[in-house]
Amino acid sequence: MNVQQHSFEFEVYISINELREEDAWLLNEAKEVARNAYAPYSHFHVGAVARLQNGEIVAGNNQENASFPAGLCAERVLLSSIVSFYPNVPVETIAISYINSKGQSDHPISPCGICRQSLLEFESRLNHSIRLILGGLEGEVFVIPGVKMLLPLSFTAEDMK
Ligand code: THU
Repeated sequence: MNVQQHSFEFEVYISINELREEDAWLLNEAKEVARNAYAPYSHFHVGAVARLQNGEIVAGNNQENASFPAGLCAERVLLSSIVSFYPNVPVETIAISYINSKGQSDHPISPCGICRQSLLEFESRLNHSIRLILGGLEGEVFVIPGVKMLLPLSFTAEDMK
């Protein structure tokens, strides 16, 4: 028996003001897009905005449903849009922000488990790491170099060969 350890490094910024200009811009776009989310049940509005390798900007936000499981997270709405328009263009960076109408929006949130799996598929498909910028309306911002590190021991196409 041996024990294995998994750890990863990511950047923590005190606020959006510490980010470089294009990253701060993308995070601000995610905040804007969160405003258009359809979240009448959770009142938790999430926005996700991607910068692609070709310079295009694509956005998504969460879309809830009276039948709760039919709802979609912002990240997967975003991915659907990216693959529809640009199936073969790698994603450089995705910024994710949120507005919690019933509480604080003062810390970063990171993608849920299903979204991590979906993001990983896209990352592996084009063999290109996706940087994540995570931040609320205020407070600290996390920059994570790739989705893979958020999902250790993940199940991928490799396992089915
Ligand atoms: N949500 C997202 O859109 N992205 C996340 O990373 C976490 C959660 C949405 C799903 C649901 O509409 C609401 O936030 C509350 O869970």
